[in-house]
This record gives sequence, structure tokens and C-alpha cells, in this order.
Amino acid sequence: MNVGILGCGTIGGGVLKLIDDLPASRNIKVLKVFDLPSKKEMLGDRFAESIDEVCQNPEIDVVIEAMGGDKFPYECIVKALKNKKSVVTSNKETVSLHIDEFYALAKENGVSFMCEASVGGGIPLICSLIDSIKVNDVDRIYGIINGTTNFVLTKMEKEGLSMEDALNEAKRLGFAEFDATADIEGLDMTRKICILSSIAYGGYVPYSEIYHYGISKVTKEIFEDLKAKGFTLKFVAESRRTGEKSARVSVEPVAVTKDNPLSAVNYEFNSVYLNCSSNDLLGFYGKGAGRFPTATAMVSDVRRIMENAGTYYYENSGNFEVDNFLSSEKYYVYKDGKSEIVNGVKDVSSYDFVARIF
Ligand code: NDP
Ligand code: HSE
Repeated sequence: MNVGILGCGTIGGGVLKLIDDLPASRNIKVLKVFDLPSKKEMLGDRFAESIDEVCQNPEIDVVIEAMGGDKFPYECIVKALKNKKSVVTSNKETVSLHIDEFYALAKENGVSFMCEASVGGGIPLICSLIDSIKVNDVDRIYGIINGTTNFVLTKMEKEGLSMEDALNEAKRLGFAEFDATADIEGLDMTRKICILSSIAYGGYVPYSEIYHYGISKVTKEIFEDLKAKGFTLKFVAESRRTGEKSARVSVEPVAVTKDNPLSAVNYEFNSVYLNCSSNDLLGFYGKGAGRFPTATAMVSDVRRIMENAGTYYYENSGNFEVDNFLSSEKYYVYKDGKSEIVNGVKDVSSYDFVARIF
């Protein structure tokens, strides 16, 4: 199977290395790699001057998109699918906005659209979710699905680092988004919970309607105060189906006690749980960011296509109405050095920091 790669950075470069080096990839060949001209020397003959050398190349079967962003990757993915190339992407930004169109185009053109690496890094999560919904109703998804922020919170809590230093280390290790505000303010997890919920419920859970509250206001004092109350802080996404076409979905910091398994998920690890009608609770754990875990998920997608296991097509049965948990759950609220636990929060901006009691 011949592939072309768009974007040869942390993840795309990892995919290239895995395919070139791994015995398990011996039936896969990278023919062309598109990136900025600065990578031309490194890529030699395989450097593609334009996306058409990848997306319209008659010798290429699968296009691997690992550039990031929305507009340009969106155009590339659409072009590839229309040219009857299967697509593998790690780009949750564009998938969360165009999931309906990508799957529809793949189906129309008889090819595959695969986005395993877009959620949970190296965890085989989306393929497991797809397997699960074939025999179960999944009505709740929750967990830690951002490696950067879990890394930052762990470094702050366990090693006493400042948020700035911890985030700089996450950037250096290649975990963070191009604009790390997307990690810190929860946009990245919002994109991911949108993708998981839409696939799980068979209807689009609009990204733009999901409540998100970031961790930028977390301080050492807040960690100490929570600890004194028996909690630790985690940054979590949760989606609960509440009706035929409705769900409560949020991305927010949560206070968890030590007996909650999420309290033991540290550094760039992610952990996700699915509530299934027959299978009960399914849990997943693994590295949610980083070069080789994520690249592994992409190469696995290519293998699934090779083995004809990439034929799932999500279809939107109708958009969901989305609510959040602010009025219905208990919250830890912090203001001017004092904190309390309240039933529901009307206005998050009236506090210095809020976290849901999980
Ligand atoms: P990088 O910035 O490391 O890599 C992106 C690559 O694409 C760079 O080489 C960049 O070039 C190139 N590129 C971007 N836009 C263009 C363009 N318009 N034309 C040509 N080349 C372009 O990002 P990552 O590898 O970290 O992330 C890639 C994708 O994978 C993103 O969607 C990200 O959200 C996702 N992802 C990342 C994970 C991680 O742990 N890093 C994990 C899971 C998903 P240059 O550097 O010169 O700008
Ligand atoms: N920035 C993302 C994270 C990359 O830290 O989880 C993986 O999607």
C-alpha cells in the first residue's frame, strides 16, 4: 500500500519513521511527503512541492494528514477523498468541524476516513468505540483526553513547577498544540469530546455549543486548598446522553477524591471511560500525546485500511442539543483565598476559579 504524508512535524515525522523502520510496516511505502520548503533537503526525492503530488497522485492509496489547523487541511482532505484516496488524520480541529462531510465523502467515493489519532493519542479508542456501538448503546463518555494539561497539572501538583514552566516542558516534548491556548483553555478536549460523542450517539454534537472552562487560573494555593479538602484536580471532558437528541457535555476542571481512578492518571497519560448498555463500563488508558504513541495510532489506521477493516461510516442522524452541568451538579468555588462547595453555579465569572465535584 502506498501512502503520502501531509505535514512532517512531530507526528507526521513519527509516522514516516515508523513506516520506514518497522517490520510490521513492510507492506506500506511512503511515496511523497508534503511540507514547507525548509524540509526539502531532509526529505530528498520524496519531498512533494504541492499537495496535488500527494492528493492527486495515481500511485498513492492513502493520504495521511498531520499538519494541524482547519482551512488548509480541510481542503486537502476533501481533495484526497474526492480523488478516491483513503484518509488518515490526527487533526481533531478539522474533524470536529467537518466530521459529517468527511465520512459522507469517504462513503460516496468508496474509500475510508480514519481519525483514530485525533482522540487519545496512542490509545485504540475510536476503533473500540466503533466496535462498542455495533452491539451497545453508549450513553456516557468521560475522562482525561488532553496530554498537555494533564502533564501540566501533574508537574504543578507533584513537582511544584509553575504553570508556565510545566507548559514549556510540554511544548518541548511535542505534546502541545501549535497554539497551546487550545490545550489550556479546553478547546482541544472540546474538539475531542465532540468527535467521540458524535460517533457514540450517531448524531452531531456541535463543537461550538460545548461548555468549556480552562485551567489557566489554577494556582499552587488552589491545589493546596483542594488537597486539604481531600481532593486532587483533574481536567476532564464528559458527555452524557440525556435524550433522543440531547446531551450534557462539558470540558472543565474537576475535583476528584483519591479513590477515583482518574486521580491516578498522571503526566501525558489519558484515561477514558465508556458507559455501555451491555458491556457496562469500559476503560482505556495510555499516552494521549507525543510522537510515537500518536504515530502508532495513524499507522494502525493504515493497516486497518489494508486489511479492509476501515469501512465504518459515521452518519449524522440529526444535530444534538447540548446543555452543561453547571446548574445540576456540585461545584468547588474559590474566591479571594476562600473556598466552598455549592450546589450549582450561576455565573462562573464571579469566582476566581471553579471546579466540578466529580
Ligand atoms: P507540528 O507543528 O509538529 O507538525 C506539523 C507539520 O506540518 C510541520 O512540519 C509544519 O511545518 C507542517 N505544516 C503545517 N501547515 C503547513 C502548510 N500549510 N504547508 C506545509 N506544511 C505545513 O504539529 P504536530 O505534528 O504536533 O501535530 C500535527 C497534527 O496532529 C495536529 O492536528 C495536532 O493537533 C495532531 N496531534 C498532535 C499530537 C501531539 O502529541 N503532538 C497528538 C495527537 C494529535 P512547520 O513546522 O515548518 O510550520
Ligand atoms: N495537544 C494534544 C494533547 C495533542 O496534549 O492532548 C494530542 O491530541
